[in-house]
Amino acid sequence: CTTSRVSEDEVLCKVSVAWNGSPTQTEADFFIRQTYRSDNSFVTFKEEHKLCEHLVVDTTTPLQKLAKLYKIGDTVLVNPKGCFESNFGLEPCEIVGFVQGRINFVRVRRLLRRWEIEDDTPARPNELVYTDDMVNIDADDVYRRCFVRFYSQSEVRNKEVPGPYCRDGTGDMFYIATRLVRLDDKNHLREIDQTSRPQSLIQGFDPTQPPPLPYLRGLDMFCGGGNFGRGLEEGGAIRFTHAVDMAPNAIATYYANTEDPKTTQFFCGSVDDMLIKALNGNVKGTLGIPLPGDIDLVAAGSPCVGYSILNPNKDSSQGLKNQSLIADVASIIDFYRPKYALLENVLTMAQKGKGRSHDSLSQLICCIVGMGYQLQVYVMDAWSFGSPQGRSRLFVSVAAPGFELPPRPHCSHSHPDGTSDRGLGTMANGKPFGERLFVDTPFNFVSAGEATAHLPDIADGHTGHCSQYPDHRPSKHAGELLRRHMNIIPFSPPGMNFIKTWKNRNVTVWEAAA
Ligand SMILES: C[S@@+](CC[C@H](N)C(=O)[O-])C[C@H]1O[C@@H](n2cnc3c(N)ncnc32)[C@H](O)[C@@H]1O
Repeated sequence: CTTSRVSEDEVLCKVSVAWNGSPTQTEADFFIRQTYRSDNSFVTFKEEHKLCEHLVVDTTTPLQKLAKLYKIGDTVLVNPKGCFESNFGLEPCEIVGFVQGRINFVRVRRLLRRWEIEDDTPARPNELVYTDDMVNIDADDVYRRCFVRFYSQSEVRNKEVPGPYCRDGTGDMFYIATRLVRLDDKNHLREIDQTSRPQSLIQGFDPTQPPPLPYLRGLDMFCGGGNFGRGLEEGGAIRFTHAVDMAPNAIATYYANTEDPKTTQFFCGSVDDMLIKALNGNVKGTLGIPLPGDIDLVAAGSPCVGYSILNPNKDSSQGLKNQSLIADVASIIDFYRPKYALLENVLTMAQKGKGRSHDSLSQLICCIVGMGYQLQVYVMDAWSFGSPQGRSRLFVSVAAPGFELPPRPHCSHSHPDGTSDRGLGTMANGKPFGERLFVDTPFNFVSAGEATAHLPDIADGHTGHCSQYPDHRPSKHAGELLRRHMNIIPFSPPGMNFIKTWKNRNVTVWEAAA
């Protein structure tokens, strides 16, 4: 909200404004078709935006608001503080009742984490156990929806739980295979089979089934090996029908990573060339170039080399060419007019200076908002979604006018200890822009050590591999010191070994000890 008093002498003149107009349709001094919100988004202007949110008198209680959002049987993440003990900021529960009376509260069924109640279990962090434990909580402590599905024990054991439910909790996705039964004051887990699945719990979407609406047909620009594309497809609403990249190896990898490569058409070449051909009507019928109307969503993990702090020559012609690829994203949006677009890049894309004289992010925002699109910018850290790596990225999410901007993804995992504030800078009004969020999460940060703890010890990682004769392997692992000793043994005369080398003084004490 920027409502503030201005003094009389600050008012210079009266201007006319066309609401929801466009320059060609109005004589007014200004036209307004988007509202800027404090969550760094530009959204299609609606009449109700004329009244500031803080001036709207809302008499509905938190419980009534909640009952409008959720049904009984929905699964939600709740803040357990003050209600029950927990090792996490948020806990998954099923709503079993909205109770209105002298005290209003929500009654929820607790869904416990299997690895917390079973010793030495191989259960993944997001495997839950169905219970009959009910608790009453404040409506304000229900944070958001989460997704829970039932799978059989054998599906869990055989790793047949499909993505995104098998991603250890990323996307707030959980699964259940057992229920908790208390016998003789002891906890027992009993398998939930097809016939005994609790009917009250409303399960999350089934990723093996098509969505209720047709898939959004996606164009994966700068598709690389397909990480971004596969992640977006796993959300259940998108299928990339087209992918473009100039690196043949990237296209081959993408091809190998698709569920069914026949459903994706590839353009192996520069996005610039694809765009020129598309703008000229693709007269030669080059394969892999969609027609306008073929694309509902554009994803662009555009190259970051021109922005990266690791590149000392950002202003070189190569650096500038690389930065300019961001303009292709705007041009592709302009040409194909998709319903949605999502762009990802490094945070330094938001900063000029440091070897870069252009503020590409501002230019991109102006361009896309100028086309009438809605847009939101946010920063997300890979570790906030369970990935054990430090990789912070800015995202530009775009929606056509009148469509809902997809909500910013919720963080499922906490920050590592000591994480500091980070953002994309400040706006002209001095307010911070694109800040890192610090919020309660259902999972804790996963370190690289924890994520790899189950892998076998590979000592110093030396394979003992002989490139010339790959079948030649040492009978036992040669440690680093032994390898150094072997390296100082001369090849001639034949039959040399370390002792002979040592005795012939072909080696110094320092070399021997090194
Ligand atoms: C950051 S990577 C994309 C990663 C990809 N989104 C993923 O998730 O795996 C950038 C990609 O852009 C490609 N690229 C660079 N310049 C290009 C151009 N002019 N046209 C098409 N692809 C280009 C590179 O080959 C590289 O695969």
